[in-house]
Amino acid sequence: MDNKDYIIAPSILSADFARLGQEVEDVLDAGADWIHFDVMDNHYVPNLTIGPMVCESLRKHGIEDFIDVHLMIEPVDSLAKDFADAGADMISFHPEASNHVHRSIHAIKENGCKAGLVLNPATPVSSIKDVVNDIDLILIMSVNPGFGGQAFIQSSLSKIKEARELINSTGKPIRLEVDGGVNKDTIGLVAEAGADTFVAGSAIFNTNDYASTIKELRSKIS
Ligand code: DX5
Ligand code: ZN
Repeated sequence: MDNKDYIIAPSILSADFARLGQEVEDVLDAGADWIHFDVMDNHYVPNLTIGPMVCESLRKHGIEDFIDVHLMIEPVDSLAKDFADAGADMISFHPEASNHVHRSIHAIKENGCKAGLVLNPATPVSSIKDVVNDIDLILIMSVNPGFGGQAFIQSSLSKIKEARELINSTGKPIRLEVDGGVNKDTIGLVAEAGADTFVAGSAIFNTNDYASTIKELRSKIS
């Protein structure tokens, strides 16, 4: 795959929330492609983060780039609509968190957003094969959702390959994103397994020079 087809999506979970607008501007100026926006409800996952008001605030702050919302919440539908109204571009959710996955996907799309499904480490790729033609992105979790800074689960690599085969079988431009423990040591393996979209939180925000970090990450996948 050509390097320009790769998307780097810094997760703002590891940003300084007291200066969020500036952090997002800085990471975009440093060469990030998307902003990955982690939403946790202390119910579906054991942590609590930010909601649609913060997404809307980023838009009002002047952020025009692609906002990739990762919902780790249950239920899905009502907040998904709120995020669409708040300016999200992509909304992804965990199928376990919706009683009617097909309905949730189409509700997101009817609200003008792209829709993605997220697979936890124990959730098989086969579980989404009947709806894969309806989605714009598969997100493979390479850690258990809930926290930044965890170690990459190596068995995710075979799952990324399986998801790539499923996507190729559709012939559609569905993106394959990987989230959790992506850093300069793992990003090359993740790309080799077939991913084209890379979430990195601590690997970017825990460094002083975002531009050189993003450049280094890109150098591993070019
Ligand atoms: C975890 C989140 C991730 C997290 C990744 O539940 O979905 O987006 O921020 O953090 P790192 O890149 O530090 O593993
Ligand atoms: Zn995430």
